[in-house]
Amino acid sequence: MGKDLISLLDLQEEEIEQLLKSASRLKAMQKRGISYRPFVGKTMALLFEKPSTRTRLSFQAGMHQLGGDSIFLSPEHTQLSRGETLEDTARTVSCFADIAVLRTFAHRTVEVFAHNASIPVINGLTDLFHPCQILADLLTIQECFGESRHKIVAFVGDGNNVAHSWINLAALWPIEVRVITPVGYEPSEDVVEHAKRCGGKVIVTSELKAVKGAHVIYTDVWASMGQEKEHQKRVSEFKGYQVNSRLMELTEKDAIFMHCLPAHRGEEVTAEVIDGPKSVVWQEAENRLHMQKAIVIKLMGGEGDVVVK
Ligand code: CP
Ligand code: NVA
Repeated sequence: MGKDLISLLDLQEEEIEQLLKSASRLKAMQKRGISYRPFVGKTMALLFEKPSTRTRLSFQAGMHQLGGDSIFLSPEHTQLSRGETLEDTARTVSCFADIAVLRTFAHRTVEVFAHNASIPVINGLTDLFHPCQILADLLTIQECFGESRHKIVAFVGDGNNVAHSWINLAALWPIEVRVITPVGYEPSEDVVEHAKRCGGKVIVTSELKAVKGAHVIYTDVWASMGQEKEHQKRVSEFKGYQVNSRLMELTEKDAIFMHCLPAHRGEEVTAEVIDGPKSVVWQEAENRLHMQKAIVIKLMGGEGDVVVK
């Protein structure tokens, strides 16, 4: 892993293993009330162009629990809004902060920022990828099944940023990813082809019956941030791809339901499923905190693992 986490492709299989171990230990420590504060006096800067509940809270609360501070900036509150360049902003942020988390529309924005920053930069979601979400989700899968390897994840809905990060994962972790979308909403061919070239098991289909045999049924909003104007059109075009009890009946007995959240009950998932017994969405949301802390420690501490004295 280099200095940044811009996509899951920045990681190697052993590093994912290390992050999972570290996040589980951090979670266990937190539950036992053991504090671990390696970053006293350190600062995290968060620059978000889009709204966020979980990503922002988990990074800010996580940094606080690790002994550090965080500063949240939306673009209108920085000189970016008055034409200061991204390059100069990245250099400036590096003078004051020890690590930065960005949430942007264009993926290129995070890449350019990271290239010009001398501090570690984390992608907290772009139009293309959402790597931190999938790392945390892997922890949830590990907790639910005792192991996250050799699981089948069926992603139902839009071939979006979250789907892309699942596909990236298949390039480096032994997991099968089936992306089930309406025709015209498939994930990027480049992302799929890259995973396949790396030996990843990825299936892209419009057939809902592909959920059969999956351990995880995963969905996300039909219109992502930035696609608000397409919302109505998407609601009608995605109608048959709702995760409801009829779809869940096609799945295995011990399959779990996951959603990165925020959810729109009645659109991509019914209340009956997301609030039902197979749903692990709250465990999934909480795990963002533990995985975020593991990522920050890995990037700032140089160590991939937590050492409890
Ligand atoms: N899942 C997720 O990233 O949530 P937020 O948009 O609330 O950060
Ligand atoms: N695909 C969604 C994920 C939100 C966490 C979006 O980009 O809006």
